[in-house]
Amino acid sequence: MQQLFQIIKTFKMAKGNITLTMIKPYAVQHGYVGPILARINEAGFRIAAMKYLQLSLRQAEAFYEVHRERPFFERLTRFMSNGPIVAAILEKENAVDDYRLLIGATDPTRAEEGTLRKLFGASIEQNAVHGSDSDDNAIREASFFFSELERF
Ligand code: CMP
Repeated sequence: MQQLFQIIKTFKMAKGNITLTMIKPYAVQHGYVGPILARINEAGFRIAAMKYLQLSLRQAEAFYEVHRERPFFERLTRFMSNGPIVAAILEKENAVDDYRLLIGATDPTRAEEGTLRKLFGASIEQNAVHGSDSDDNAIREASFFFSELERF
């Protein structure tokens, strides 16, 4: 029975059906966790895993490793480790693309009206939420935060 449950869980979490989000320190500090989660819910995403934690600088650097050579890497990783965040795996068909539509452009000043980054972000460096940019990265990022036992 346990094995069957595991197989169903693995199937549901298959590539294409999940994305990884973080509600970033700025949004947490300003009390936006509730409003952001409400919009995620209303948009039809299921929360498959969630935790409230603070990244160390080293952990933020590991998460954003692909950006290590970018000029904003140091500011980004300092910002991401300076307060608590909410990390979650969101499940939905076409999760990566649909979530990117919900959050809008990286820069809040360019994000479409009604998107999470437009509503709750301060700047391109201190935007409100992260969303995976591909199915492969969604799998990698989900595993960064959550073990199999922490996914439902
Ligand atoms: P995120 O979706 O978390 O993924 C990488 C982050 O780097 C991004 O959100 C922004 O916060 C940040 N970022 C991306 N591009 C720039 C940029 N040009 N200048 C500063 N920060 C950036």
